[in-house]
Amino acid sequence: MHCFISSMMNEHAPYILTDSKSLEEALNQRLSDKGRIFILADSNTSEHCLPMIQSMLPQDGKDCMLMDLAAGEDAKSLDTAMDLYRQLITYGADRSSVMINLGGGMVCDLGGFVASTYKRGMEFIHVPTTVLAQVDAAIGGKTGVNLGSLKNMVGNFTLPSATLIYPEFLNTLPKREVMAGFAEILKHALIADHSLWTKIIEAPYIDLPLIKSIIPEASHVKVGIVNRDFEEKGERKKLNFGHTIGHALESLILESPGKNLLHGEAVALGMIAESYLSMKAGKLSDDELKAISDFIAQHYKPIELDRMQFHRIIELMRHDKKNKRSKVNFTLLNGIGDSLIDQEPDMEDVMEALNYLEHYPFPA
Ligand SMILES: NC(=O)c1ccc[n+]([C@@H]2O[C@H](COP(=O)([O-])OP(=O)(O)OC[C@H]3O[C@@H](n4cnc5c(N)ncnc54)[C@H](O)[C@@H]3O)[C@@H](O)[C@H]2O)c1
Repeated sequence: MHCFISSMMNEHAPYILTDSKSLEEALNQRLSDKGRIFILADSNTSEHCLPMIQSMLPQDGKDCMLMDLAAGEDAKSLDTAMDLYRQLITYGADRSSVMINLGGGMVCDLGGFVASTYKRGMEFIHVPTTVLAQVDAAIGGKTGVNLGSLKNMVGNFTLPSATLIYPEFLNTLPKREVMAGFAEILKHALIADHSLWTKIIEAPYIDLPLIKSIIPEASHVKVGIVNRDFEEKGERKKLNFGHTIGHALESLILESPGKNLLHGEAVALGMIAESYLSMKAGKLSDDELKAISDFIAQHYKPIELDRMQFHRIIELMRHDKKNKRSKVNFTLLNGIGDSLIDQEPDMEDVMEALNYLEHYPFPA
């Protein structure tokens, strides 16, 4: 079984494949008339997902070239990209070759970047294996690498020839990564899909079966938005809800030795603070703010902040690459299920929002 989730029938929309036979068919359809196949995987996806993909390829994938990376964000660099270009040259990749990016957002961003720039572009297919990549990173054509601590500083917009989503790959994903990716599902519901929000809050548990079952709806939100605004001139900025404060929290934690916070966890906390800003702007009711904050507090851990750090967070937000004319740019909610881009709240309100987040009663 597979379903094609674009309402606009964009040929690059992802396919959700609910059984291994459909994944095998989808792969082979796209690879049958191609040259050499290169598979990019990290140490975890090599262990947990690669054997299945190889078994689906002609001669169990013995003709494919595996490019194996260390897991983790550090590999998403120009140094790794150079190493991959060298491997592609050594093993004779040409423009009939295809690269399969088998992994989370790190592998998809890096692999998409390398494939889209090698010899001015070779074909690539994303096979995302994390929740975050299945609903977000593998959709919409953003590719890139980091420059040191500066995230996604070098990259481009290039669509893969296909994104093949197989939710069963999520079975081996650590629970913390599952919940970090779930934050992006929650964001998709809050910015654009009230019925998805209702489904989430009415579910008895937030567990992997529930998350796998809502991947189609959550991906659909992103597909719809990027089909209408591929180059992020307007509506695509809606996807930044929770990210202005979330990114600043992520950077703050990077400056604090011994602490760590996953991207999705930072976004979840950012969504509490940015929902508060939405309420202050008169766009979200007190009840909606409470419902969002309670839900996030129930499923994520709080962050300890002091007032000195509030100033540092605001400084970090001022460096965000989404800003224009020294104003800090936010996407805020216009009620649950709708959102407003290019909002520029006062910094006093941002301080209040951080204070709200800091004092929110998270259950012990
Ligand atoms: N291009 C975009 O539009 C976009 C959007 C959002 C995020 N991103 C990027 O995505 C990246 C984060 O993605 P991520 O959260 O998927 O992180 P990730 O790719 O680093 O994966 C998280 C961890 O899960 C492991 N893993 C992956 N699949 C697994 C599986 N099936 N079983 C067991 N372990 C598995 C990985 O090895 C890694 O240790 C960041 O670089 C971010 O900038 C890109």
